[in-house]
Amino acid sequence: MSDQLIIFDTTLRDGEQSPGASMTKDEKLRIARQLERLKVDVIEAGFAASSNGDFDCVQAIANTVKDSTICSLARANDRDIARAAEALKGANRARIHTFIATSQLHMEKKLRMTPDQVLEQARQSVRFARNLCGDIEFSPEDGYRSDMDFLCRVLEAVIQEGATTLNIPDTVGYAIPELYGNFIRTLRERIPNSDKVIWSVHCHNDLGMAVANSLAGVKLGGARQVECTINGLGERAGNCSLEEIVMAVRTRRDYFGLDVNVDATQIVPASRMVSQTTGFVVQPNKAVVGANAFAHASGIHQDGVLKARDTYEIMRAEDVGWSANKIVLGKLSGRNAFKQRLQDLGIQMESEGEINTAFASFKELADRKSEIFDEDILALCSDESVTAEKEQFGLVSLSQHSETGERPHAQVVFTINGKEFQGASDGNGPVDASLKAIETHVKSGAEMLLYSVNAITSGSTESQGEVTIRLQQGGRVVNGVGADPDIVVASAKAYLSALNKLHSRAERVAAQG
Ligand code: KIV
Ligand code: ZN
Repeated sequence: MSDQLIIFDTTLRDGEQSPGASMTKDEKLRIARQLERLKVDVIEAGFAASSNGDFDCVQAIANTVKDSTICSLARANDRDIARAAEALKGANRARIHTFIATSQLHMEKKLRMTPDQVLEQARQSVRFARNLCGDIEFSPEDGYRSDMDFLCRVLEAVIQEGATTLNIPDTVGYAIPELYGNFIRTLRERIPNSDKVIWSVHCHNDLGMAVANSLAGVKLGGARQVECTINGLGERAGNCSLEEIVMAVRTRRDYFGLDVNVDATQIVPASRMVSQTTGFVVQPNKAVVGANAFAHASGIHQDGVLKARDTYEIMRAEDVGWSANKIVLGKLSGRNAFKQRLQDLGIQMESEGEINTAFASFKELADRKSEIFDEDILALCSDESVTAEKEQFGLVSLSQHSETGERPHAQVVFTINGKEFQGASDGNGPVDASLKAIETHVKSGAEMLLYSVNAITSGSTESQGEVTIRLQQGGRVVNGVGADPDIVVASAKAYLSALNKLHSRAERVAAQG
């Protein structure tokens, strides 16, 4: 059996299914380039048949990213599969990932199909897909809660039809490590042609065991592919976290005996990028990528680490990319240095005009903040005022007055499709007043589900504030993110960014609906 563990990243597909985590094409491309720098083996770029927007994203990533295999999800039907194949045409290496539910509950209540119908559909779909692409992954959705005998029949049939990877999802995060590991092993032992495929694990984190279950699938079950997401992003409690899997296998190579291709020094930059793009903040005590993951507060620990690092540290912060958090540019940096840094960070601006706008914003920021970090540049380039021509809503200016004992008042000038509007309002605080000022014109009626402020780079009040606002309207949930040294301005940017997402996102078919 191979000693290589394939890392299959599904941040852009399963991760994006988290309510509010939807990303634009530019954002997805940026993350895909970072995943390529991270050297993940497979990038699941989206679900091409779910919407024209998703199709475009998969296509753009397939045309751009050349070092990783690019994969599209497809339900087990000819239309979805043909659409996936079409979107993947430009890829160096393409994979179609087709799935159908196999648990009794899903077949009966959701699909309203008999087991024999599901078996036939799985078989036909893989046959159809195999004629379009040499690399076919098949997933029995809710596989872990499926009847073992039936699952064996389905999986044996799809191997006969030419599936090359079999992925066993614990769709609802119900598994326990030992049981899941044994489940995979039993499948491999009982299916006669099981050695013809690579076995893969796909675990959700509802009971907080996605990483443990995946590792058990590898160690006990013999799986050689793990499906995971950056920061464990994903629906409900999320997916298995890429950084934890990679570092567990690396750090405990003595136990797992497996190699991974991933360039771990790109982990923290990838984590930052995903968190800044989606507005899903990483908890400080999150393994590997949390702000406190390598911080030692207790005197005894600090003393130990200073004497010998491995007294309290099992990984080196710099090995997972923490050293990337350094001052990169300042007030005196020129346009070329800025442009080079954009390239190093994998940020591609469409035109020289866009670079000029971003550079002007950078200069403005550098006037107010002496040290500019990579995170500041990323935030600046995600800022919709830099790419304002594409967006419906954009911030022009904001002024607000607040004083102890007085009710705060704000005035906001913003654009709607290029036309300027001015709104004014009182509020409980300056943020509330500013958002109400915007609402005097927009009247979105959206419900705010979340408002959070974080410092982009820790350690100083000079840092930019990064605000995430989650809005819900008509069953849709979106996150807007805004950054600025002034958190009231950051809040207005985040609000307008959320409004842009509410207005732009096309309806899509849900992968597991
Ligand atoms: O969790 C799941 O079952 C999935 C499949 C579509 C692979 O994401
Ligand atoms: Zn999933």
